[in-house]
Amino acid sequence: MTALFQDAGAVGWKHWGARLARHRAERWTAGIIERLRDGSLQTGQESAAHVVATWRDLNGELLTSKVAAVELLNVVRPIVAVSAFIAQAAHALHRHPEWRQKLKDDEGQLEPFVQEVRRLYPFFPAVAARVKSDFEWRGYRFSKGYRGLLDLYGTNTDARSWDAPQEFRPERFHDREVTPYDFIPQGGGDHHRNHRCPGEWIAISQMKAFCSFFVNAIDYEVPDQDLDLETEELPPMPKSRFIMRNVRRRQ
Ligand code: HEM
Repeated sequence: MTALFQDAGAVGWKHWGARLARHRAERWTAGIIERLRDGSLQTGQESAAHVVATWRDLNGELLTSKVAAVELLNVVRPIVAVSAFIAQAAHALHRHPEWRQKLKDDEGQLEPFVQEVRRLYPFFPAVAARVKSDFEWRGYRFSKGYRGLLDLYGTNTDARSWDAPQEFRPERFHDREVTPYDFIPQGGGDHHRNHRCPGEWIAISQMKAFCSFFVNAIDYEVPDQDLDLETEELPPMPKSRFIMRNVRRRQ
């Protein structure tokens, strides 16, 4: 599952490994869809697998099992991908240890903290699109067929919108209204009308749950390692990942 989002843009054997992983994952989810449909597997009505397996289009048709498999994977894969943001949140907590106590003392700090991680750690630095019809915007011409890149990371760290943009300051989110155009770690614009990621709230709640667990439920040591971000990778992860030692549940 990790190969699907970490190695898909790679070249060489990693890329081929990612393609193989995708085929295997699609076979796995297609099997789940088929077993749900023939009754040999049961899940809760609200599970993603059940919703996808039983969804009917306007003509009352079920999705083919191949399409349903891809749709189910489109839910599972990004939820697993949030693990990269989670590792980055662990990294931020390590680099800014004063936030441990703040998160422990006040649950209300979790959201500003994870928003600042999403702002400052590039996950997908940019998204690409192709211009559908000619238009002009602020003197720039966009001709049909051109490829455009939306600079997500550049927008999230643009000094015209953010004070001291390269500094990790979760408190900036205490009293700042974000707009659909200045804070866009998972795409920009309106969730309902544009392609902005509909999974933002899922990612935020996964990250908050994890940070709360991290500061309240466990103790751990972080041995010496290389925690510089590997900027040639997507998503950029600490070079040593984030190695923890002697992890124990707090009594
Ligand atoms: C790891 C954290 C995540 C990141 C960095 C991320 C990022 C993105 C980006 C950049 C886009 C494209 C936006 C655009 O084209 O303007 C996108 C689209 C999408 N994301 Fe996410 N995403 C994440 C998590 C999730 C989760 C947890 C889900 C759901 C379970 C999800 C579901 C989707 C879907 C369905 C789309 C396509 C939306 C469309 O084309 O209309 N994502 N995401």
